[in-house]
Amino acid sequence: MIGKLNHVAIVVPNLNEAKFKYKDILGATVSDIEHLEVHGVSIIFVNLGNTKIELMHPLGENSPIKKFLEKNPNGAIHHVCYEVKSIKNSISLLKEKGIEIIGDGSPSIGAHGKPVIFLKPKQFDGTLIELEEV
Ligand code: CO
Repeated sequence: MIGKLNHVAIVVPNLNEAKFKYKDILGATVSDIEHLEVHGVSIIFVNLGNTKIELMHPLGENSPIKKFLEKNPNGAIHHVCYEVKSIKNSISLLKEKGIEIIGDGSPSIGAHGKPVIFLKPKQFDGTLIELEEV
């Protein structure tokens, strides 16, 4: 079902500091900060060629990652995202196998404008998994 690793998302306490570390210390190619108000996150993309790292910081009071940063004030890996060919097929296969999808079980439009679902960490060894249709 899954293909390539699309990205690893890391919640960071300070985006400018994180940008400095990835760009000026590690020498990676990084984007400017993007504020995705609909998703309640500000993001910097680190492009590694074979995959991406998304450095995320909460945006606004209702940010879905606000609590996560409170629990992990130094920052932490938040989720990994695997590519799938069809989100619809993935949903039915997962449902067949008793895998729970977060939310109402239908895809939402993710931070890249593509359909995504998230799987419960409880069923995947403590890892929040995002599946994105590519
Ligand atoms: Co993601």
